[in-house]
Amino acid sequence: MGTTRHAFLLGEHISHSLSPAIHNPAYAALGLDYEFGLLDVPPARLQEALARMRRPDCLGGNITMPYKRDVLAAADECSETVRRCEAASLMINRNGRFILHNNAVEAIAACRARRAATVAKGPAVIVGAGGSAAAMLEALRRVPPTRIVVLARRPEAAKALVERARAWLPVPIEAGHLAEGGRALAEAAVIFNATSLGVHAGDPSPVPREALRPGLLVYDIVYQREALNTLQADALAAGALVCDGMRHIFEQGPFSFQMLTDREAPRQLMLESLIAATGRRPLDWGADGAA
Ligand SMILES: NC(=O)c1ccc[n+]([C@@H]2O[C@H](COP(=O)([O-])OP(=O)(O)OC[C@H]3O[C@@H](n4cnc5c(N)ncnc54)[C@H](OP(=O)(O)O)[C@@H]3O)[C@@H](O)[C@H]2O)c1
Repeated sequence: MGTTRHAFLLGEHISHSLSPAIHNPAYAALGLDYEFGLLDVPPARLQEALARMRRPDCLGGNITMPYKRDVLAAADECSETVRRCEAASLMINRNGRFILHNNAVEAIAACRARRAATVAKGPAVIVGAGGSAAAMLEALRRVPPTRIVVLARRPEAAKALVERARAWLPVPIEAGHLAEGGRALAEAAVIFNATSLGVHAGDPSPVPREALRPGLLVYDIVYQREALNTLQADALAAGALVCDGMRHIFEQGPFSFQMLTDREAPRQLMLESLIAATGRRPLDWGADGAA
C-alpha cells in the first residue's frame, strides 16, 4: 500500500466538482502527500463508499447531494451546527470515527462576518426553504440581523423551517409566500437566494428587480460556471453588493482543508486555483480580488 492519504467529495453526479482543483494544488504547495478525489456513487453504494472513507489512509472529505442528511446515521460525533441544520457537508475520519461538520454554514458565516455591521442594522430575507436556507439561518444565528423573513413558493415549507429555527434563533423570525414578499424584500438589508433558481442559463431571478438597490447585500448560493445568473447581474446593475455561489464554494475550501489536514489553509493559492479552473473571479461583496 502507498503512503498517499486521501480525501474525497462524496456525492452523486459530481463529475463537474471544483473541489479537486481547489484542494490538490494546496496539498502540493504544502508538500503534503495527499490527494483529493471524487466518490461519485449512487445511493445503493453509499455504505461501500463510507467504508472506504473509514479506512486509515482516508482523511475524510466533503459531503454533497444527496447524502448530506444520510451521513448523519454514520456519525460518531456531530457539531451543534450539524444537529440544528440536520445536514452535514464535511466528515473527518479520526481513527475510524466519523466527526461531522457543516462547512456551508462556515462559508456563509465567513462572508457575512465581513459585512456584519450592515447585516446587524436591518432585516434579512431568505428566499427558499430547503437545506441551504437552513444553513443560512444557522449562519444568521452567529451574526444576527434585526429580524428574519423566510419566503418560499410553498409557504408551508417556509413555516415548517421557521418553526424549527425559532427554538435557537435569537431574533424574531417569520415565514411568508414568495409571491407576497415584496415588502419584506424592499425592507431587507440582506437577501439570500436559497432556491435552485439561477442554476441554469435563462432561469428567471427569484427576487424582483425593484427590491434591488445600492448598498443592499445579496448572497446567492447558486452559480453558473460560465456567467453570472439573472439575480447576480440584476443586483450588480442596481448597485447591490453580491456574494455568489462560486464564493460560497471557495469559502468552504479553507475550512475543509484545515479540518482535514490540521494545517492552516493557503487561502490565496486556493482562490487562484479556483479562478484558474473556472476562468472567473468569485463575487465577494465587491472586494473581489482578495482571499
Ligand atoms: N455554491 C454551492 O456550493 C452550493 C451548495 C449547496 C447548494 N447550492 C445550490 O443551492 C440550491 C439550493 O440547494 P438546497 O440544498 O437548499 O436545495 P433544496 O433543499 O432542494 O431546496 C431548494 C429550495 O428551492 C425552492 N425552489 C426550487 N425551484 C424553485 C422555483 N422555480 N421557484 C421558487 N423556489 C424554488 C424549493 O422549493 P420547493 O420545496 O417548493 O421545491 C426549495 O425551497 C441548489 O440549486 C444548489 O445547486 C450551491
